[in-house]
Amino acid sequence: MSRFFVTTPIFYVNAKPHLGHAFTTILADAMTRFHRLMGEESFFLTGTDEHGDKIAKASEEAGQSPKEYADQISSLFRALGPMLGAKADHFIRTTDPEHIKTVQKVLQKVYETGDIYFGEYGGHYCFGCERFYTEKELVDGMCPDHKTRPEYIAEKNYFFRMSKYQAWLIEYINQNPDFIRPARYRNEVLSLLESGALEDLCISRPKSRLTWGIELPFDQDFVCYVWFDALLNYVSALNYPRGEKFKKFWPANHIVAKDILKPHAIFWPTMLKAAGIAPYQSLNVHGYWLVRDTKMSKSLGNVVEPKQMVDAYGTSAFRYFLLREMAFGSDASFTEEALVGRLNADLANDLGNLFNRVLSMTHKYFEGKVPSPAAETEGDAELKRLGRDAMRNFQGHFAEFRTARGLESLWELVRALNKYIDTAAPWTLFKNKDKARLGTVMYMLLEHMRKIAVHLWPVMPEASVKMHEQLGCAFDLDKVNLAKEPEVWGLLDSGLAVAPTSNLFPRVDVPEPAPPSVHDAPAAAVNSTEGPKAKAAESKKKAPDKPAEAPAGPAESIEFADFQKLDLRVGTVLSAAKHPDADKLLVVQVALGELEPRQIVAGLADRFSPDDLVGKQVVVVANLAPRKLRGIQSQGMILVAKDAEVTRLLTAAGSVDDGGKVA
Ligand code: MSP
Repeated sequence: MSRFFVTTPIFYVNAKPHLGHAFTTILADAMTRFHRLMGEESFFLTGTDEHGDKIAKASEEAGQSPKEYADQISSLFRALGPMLGAKADHFIRTTDPEHIKTVQKVLQKVYETGDIYFGEYGGHYCFGCERFYTEKELVDGMCPDHKTRPEYIAEKNYFFRMSKYQAWLIEYINQNPDFIRPARYRNEVLSLLESGALEDLCISRPKSRLTWGIELPFDQDFVCYVWFDALLNYVSALNYPRGEKFKKFWPANHIVAKDILKPHAIFWPTMLKAAGIAPYQSLNVHGYWLVRDTKMSKSLGNVVEPKQMVDAYGTSAFRYFLLREMAFGSDASFTEEALVGRLNADLANDLGNLFNRVLSMTHKYFEGKVPSPAAETEGDAELKRLGRDAMRNFQGHFAEFRTARGLESLWELVRALNKYIDTAAPWTLFKNKDKARLGTVMYMLLEHMRKIAVHLWPVMPEASVKMHEQLGCAFDLDKVNLAKEPEVWGLLDSGLAVAPTSNLFPRVDVPEPAPPSVHDAPAAAVNSTEGPKAKAAESKKKAPDKPAEAPAGPAESIEFADFQKLDLRVGTVLSAAKHPDADKLLVVQVALGELEPRQIVAGLADRFSPDDLVGKQVVVVANLAPRKLRGIQSQGMILVAKDAEVTRLLTAAGSVDDGGKVA
């Protein structure tokens, strides 16, 4: 059985997880799931990097011991995966005793072969990067990353003879085109290696300067340089050298962003070579997530918190957006508007509509059962060819980490299926009682939808499982053979019962300020004092074609038919509580004469306390599309009447049965 071992970088524990860490984790998870579907035994490793100056300093500032501090932040990173629907097989910490032992073993081994030596070195040391810079690397005497002037430090240290392996590495990269990808990073590394002699790597720090690290086994006065320690996590996690996992899964497929290209493309392969370990399989380098084209940074206050996005849009939409939006190797720009745009266009419109239309037609025409197909037409054969190509392309791109292009290919099929509905016009076949052709058309759609659902499991595992359920077939990893999917046909059994509708991807409003008369503001407007939502709201407010304040007075007239679209009902408030994450919101349960009470998130907290509402009869817009407001599902809107001074609950003049209609 072939195997696949994928890693994320181990993240520093000096700050909590943000969008960038979330993306690498999601990409690694998607790759693991993809290879699992392709029938490969897969292993996904992530974790935290806990030694070195950076962490020692951060813990000091926090008034904690480095270990206490690392414990806290590491646990946030441990929780990151599950929050994103990502399932790592192992979470390593560089403070794990097993890891420490492995680092010391490797250090000893390389020392004994003569590739680590003691020497004196003077260099420009950047504390932010925890490394020495050569004159050539500095920009106007400053660290190119931190834009600060490095300190000149001269001290005795241990060095790894990296220069010895320079020629070998150049040769190896040239002979293995997939060793570093995409090609632009491979070329960058090659040109760096070919531009001059590689210097040896300083791999120790004197304890007089830093104690928070792994002690060198051959000299107690020094600790190991954090990168030499951290990179070894990729083998220590597999219990190198004798562990079964190491024998089974090495060599690795590493995923990193461009910021840590050099340590992974130069330090790490030469370290492996010196330690007598086979080179890794591939280094996959993605670009940076920017926020509105600006670097994310704490000081700019534009750091995107993955949890907020997951709470607002769900893991499936968040994962889809990130994997679809970032072209492999390039930078990408994150904005909530772009996320909502993709959610509405690709998920709600294309995919969600496809599911909704086909499922409801299956109910209408075949009592909700997958029909048996009859003879296929040339048009059907053409659709199948298109589907085959889309799936093959998806798989080809995913095998090389190009998730955006893979999804683009798959969406060619999604869109073709929507078009196929329009041209095959099942409603006409139904009217003409052409059951045989109708069965073929519906089967053509349903079987392709199953194929789409399987391919989406790496990207949106949760939604994919639901899509399978809606098609009446449970997702079973052991039974899937993704590689064969483009070629096989007819795995969806006729007679299976499908769901009546699919509500997987409801449309979401683009974040914008709420109109003044609407109090049940969308999450964006509720949160209008902070974050990118607020910025979007601000810029819209300032748009020249819109007055800042809507003028008071009668609204535009509407037709009676428009009014009839509103389902207004009377209901009794059973309970109300403050929203845990938003000051202006109340979470209200209203009895509307239905089986379950309705949960409505209402923007009333600044005018009503929960007690003001409980027991009152209110008027509710009952057919408002459900949406999440700051992470909590809301199924309707409570109406109020207001003037400049007061806001009153809208209610009936006397008691009405719950569910009574406002007409
Ligand atoms: N501890 C080292 C890695 C050691 S691996 C042996 C480190 N840690 S880090 O916390 O700074 O993480 C860097 C990684 O986080 C990047 O390589 C990338 O995977 C992810 N990202 C952090 N910010 C990012 C963006 N803005 N965009 C995309 N990913 C980024 O370096």
